Amino acid sequence: MNPTTQAPPESRAPAADENRQRPGAKISTTINDHAYDTVVPPHLLLVDFLRDTLGLTGTKIGCETGQCGACTILVDGVSVKSCAMLAAQADGCRITTIEGVANGDLTPIQAALCDKHAVQCGFCTPGLVMSLTDLLRRNPHPDEAAIRESIDGNMCRCGVYQNVVRAILSISGSV
Ligand code: FES
Ligand code: FES
Repeated sequence: MNPTTQAPPESRAPAADENRQRPGAKISTTINDHAYDTVVPPHLLLVDFLRDTLGLTGTKIGCETGQCGACTILVDGVSVKSCAMLAAQADGCRITTIEGVANGDLTPIQAALCDKHAVQCGFCTPGLVMSLTDLLRRNPHPDEAAIRESIDGNMCRCGVYQNVVRAILSISGSV
């Protein structure tokens, strides 16, 4: 056999089946106070892991390009767009989704949004709640400018922004 006509076994291109079976990334993460040790595909978006793998569909998908804020969650207490992060990057993180913010009753933020009619279709609302939760943890007395700045990454097609500001001002200092 001519040795130049046959590639050595270790350098051959992987078959299609082998590509599909590439190993994933091991992650240990805490989501809404539940610990998960699992393996995720390397390119799986965190938002898809939350929604499709764990069934936490309260986190919405609007644009999947990091612009609309519908997918906002808290990662180690900080608001993050979960379509802009891989599930593999959640290793070692503590995550809170909209399902994890309330403990039975509505949180004061959720109650204030209802009270001030800051919800129409509600598609943006989970993301808004997460951004506002982050805001009030950092700044319990936000003024109007701080509230507006905190939600400038959350797009609301229904245009409820004015009532969101009213809602958060109504609970300023009480959360
Ligand atoms: S779906 Fe993530 S920012 Fe729009
Ligand atoms: S309430 Fe409809 S998108 Fe915000």
